[in-house]
Order: sequence, then C-alpha cells, then structure tokens
Amino acid sequence: MEIIRTPAAMTAWANRMIAAGDAIVLVPTMGYFHAGHLCLMRRAKGLAKRVVVSLFVNPIQFGPQEDLSRYPRDFERDAALADQEGVDVLFAPEAAAMYPEGSRTRVTVSGLTDGLCGRSRPGHFEGVTTVVAKLFHLVKPQVAIFGQKDFQQLAVIRRMTADLNWDIEIVGHPIVREADGLAMSSRNVYLSADERQAALGLSRALRHARQRVREGLTDAAGLVREVCEILTSATGVTVEYVECVDEASLLPCARLAPGVVLAIAARVGATRLIDNDNLFAEEVQ
Ligand code: PAF
Repeated sequence: MEIIRTPAAMTAWANRMIAAGDAIVLVPTMGYFHAGHLCLMRRAKGLAKRVVVSLFVNPIQFGPQEDLSRYPRDFERDAALADQEGVDVLFAPEAAAMYPEGSRTRVTVSGLTDGLCGRSRPGHFEGVTTVVAKLFHLVKPQVAIFGQKDFQQLAVIRRMTADLNWDIEIVGHPIVREADGLAMSSRNVYLSADERQAALGLSRALRHARQRVREGLTDAAGLVREVCEILTSATGVTVEYVECVDEASLLPCARLAPGVVLAIAARVGATRLIDNDNLFAEEVQ
C-alpha cells in the first residue's frame, strides 16, 4: 500500500491510474478505523480496480465547542489495517495542504443541511461537502462509498454530486453494529462502561420502531413519542432529536411509509451519538 501525503501526489497517482484504464473507488474517512471502516474497504474492493482510502480529520467540519483536538487518532494502526485490507493508497494529507493560507472557497448544499444534525452543528455540513468535493477532485473516483450511519451526510453528498454533475456513483453502506446493537463509531471510545450500556438505548429504540411498523403503526408522531420514552428511560441519555423524515428530501413525514427514515441524535454523557433506520427497508443483520 502506498501512503500519499500531498494533494499534488494524489492527483498524479490518480492520473496515472486513469491513463492505464483503472477505475478508482474512494472511501473517505477520518481514521481511527473500526470494523465498520474495514467493511467499507472490503466493499470498495468489489466496486473498482483501485481503492483509495482518505484519512483526514477535517478541521472545518468541527464546531468551536466540538472534539477536534481530542478526536481519536492512531495513524500507524490505521495504516496497518488498511494495508491488510488490500487498499492501494492511503491518502493522509496535512490540514495545511488541504486548506493552504488564502483558501476561501466553501461548497454549500442548502435546505438539506438545515434540519436534523445541521440544527445543532451549524457549518458542519459545509465542512463535509467542501472536503468531499476536494477529495473528489484530487482522487478522481468513479465510485465513492459512505456509511449509512451518517444518513443526512449521505443524502447531502448525493445531492451535491448530482447538483455539480459529478459522474461519480455514491454508494451507501449499511450501518455496521457491535454484537449488542451499538452502531460502530470512532466516538464510541469516549463512552464509559455505564454510558455504553445507556447508549444501547438507541439501537433498542430503533428495533422497537421497526417492530411497531411491522405491527401496522402508521402515525409518525406516535412512534416518535414511544422512541423518546425508550431513550429517556436510560439515565444519562439526553435526546437531541428523534424524527421521521423522507430518505432523500429529509423533510418530516407524518405517515410511516416506505422511504421513511427514523433518525436519532442523543447525548450519552458528553458524547453525541447518532443512529437511524430506514424503517421499511430490508433489515441488515
Ligand atoms: O464521515 C466522515 O468520516 C466524514 O464526515 C468524511 C465524509 C470523511 C468527511 O470528512
């Protein structure tokens, strides 16, 4: 596996691959790999000949009160894991190379970024779309793969890709969960043993919601109330939002029907967690 540190070297590599007729798939990450990231890498291998994983803790998607400085990092371990997965390139640029002195441009997707996580994280999605746009230009992928846990992020990136006429297929990969149901996240390392137990309320609430849908419940507000009750029954859990929204427009839905996603954000202690379920989609084990 090659480790590339500069944007110019990344583009030179991408140009060589494209000249040789090799398609590239990009797996954008912020590192501190867990089994979910490794699943994305494995899936990527089946999507194009060359796999590029970007590892960049993107400073502009963190708010001033967020966890940029303490975001977990372990480059050596990440590089070894990516290598084991048969990744061709680990692209790990410095922040100063991605945002050199004088850079002013930001990519914004309006509307879709106002609600859900956008409400409590102003500027977050602009940071995400800006860095993903830059990665698309530098890596020149035909396919890019993102986890469905960040389901609003996925919808925003799909919108940006379509709006900017990028000929890139955006693949959403199902949420990868621990055996006990907790959605995998690099931020799970912040949880104490008690908080981790409390955090299981999120996946429990989603399972309850799916069951209620199977039973024929169609009232979204009623479901949201039940889910909030499950979440708040655990000590230390503060609900930020529980919403039923359309998977593409992200607009609130009154009626539960195919295409409705139940999305949750909650704080467990000081850690902000998100989880979701596309309620009528086939269940992923
Ligand atoms: O989902 C993430 O890890 C990040 O938001 C992404 C897409 C790599 C952009 O920094």
